[in-house]
Amino acid sequence: MSGRAAAISGGSGERGSGERRSPEQASGEDAPDLPRSDGDLPSWDDLAEWWWRTFTNGADIEYEQQILPLAEAHLAGCRRVLDIGTGEGQLARRLAGAGKPGLVVGIDPFEGQLRNAVRQGGGAVYVRAAGERLPFRRASFDGIVCCLVIEHAADVDAVLAEAARLLAPAGRFLLVVNHPVVQGPGSGFVDDRVLGEQYWRIGPYLTESVSVEEVDPGVPILFRHRPLSRYVNPLCGMGLVLTALEEPEPPIDFLTDSLDLDLERAMPRLCVMRFERPAQAQEWRRDG
Ligand SMILES: C[S@@+](CC[C@H](N)C(=O)[O-])C[C@H]1O[C@@H](n2cnc3c(N)ncnc32)[C@H](O)[C@@H]1O
Repeated sequence: MSGRAAAISGGSGERGSGERRSPEQASGEDAPDLPRSDGDLPSWDDLAEWWWRTFTNGADIEYEQQILPLAEAHLAGCRRVLDIGTGEGQLARRLAGAGKPGLVVGIDPFEGQLRNAVRQGGGAVYVRAAGERLPFRRASFDGIVCCLVIEHAADVDAVLAEAARLLAPAGRFLLVVNHPVVQGPGSGFVDDRVLGEQYWRIGPYLTESVSVEEVDPGVPILFRHRPLSRYVNPLCGMGLVLTALEEPEPPIDFLTDSLDLDLERAMPRLCVMRFERPAQAQEWRRDG
């Protein structure tokens, strides 16, 4: 989503230019089994129609030009694919249509999202579950994607552990996040008219934080900011290897009103990490 800002507000993104407010009450952690909502904030059930209308089926340039093609390219050849936090299933549909894998499963804890996914068909199957606790046997999938989801999940370690548990030897795990280095809380383009300067400010990158961003008028969403090491190191510790990192330039259509095109083109909205489980390695077991 746009600050991703990047992915929701100004374009596809979820975050970015939206207003942030402190999430003290909003961060009420739900039971990891099936999260419902973050405090007073709308749940992903409440947001299902908005998400569908705003970010899917060609509505969002970033998905069309970058996210969907990158997911397809990095998971090409995978035969059993899992989409963690599938939403209304746009990645699952794309992957089910590409190269005809044997199985594509989309999971999401929110019924409203899954209802929209099922309604659209497209060859994937859907299961209601949270990323923190997935109802599959270990090493069940040779391709896993988790796209713009982990920033919303309360228990990052549990989601990563489930991805690692379910990834078969030689399998690939694609983790897509709003770029935490340049799109985190407090980061963004600054047009200082007093000093006559334009620059990109970086917020407190190493500080894990929770914030609420108004990604569209009347659409507040909770984001959990974490540095990249919070994703990479646990996965490496569970035997996965980082084999590709993509930081695509923002789509040019997002920058039509840019005050400094060269600067804004150099600030990625997305960070796409591909991890692999080496073919010879032992499968990782959650309980040792
Ligand atoms: C920004 S949407 C992204 C949907 C989809 N991955 C896509 O890229 O089109 C975030 C999704 O994460 C789901 N989600 C939130 N918390 C989750 C959790 N703990 N486990 C799995 N999915 C979760 C939401 O229901 C929502 O569908």
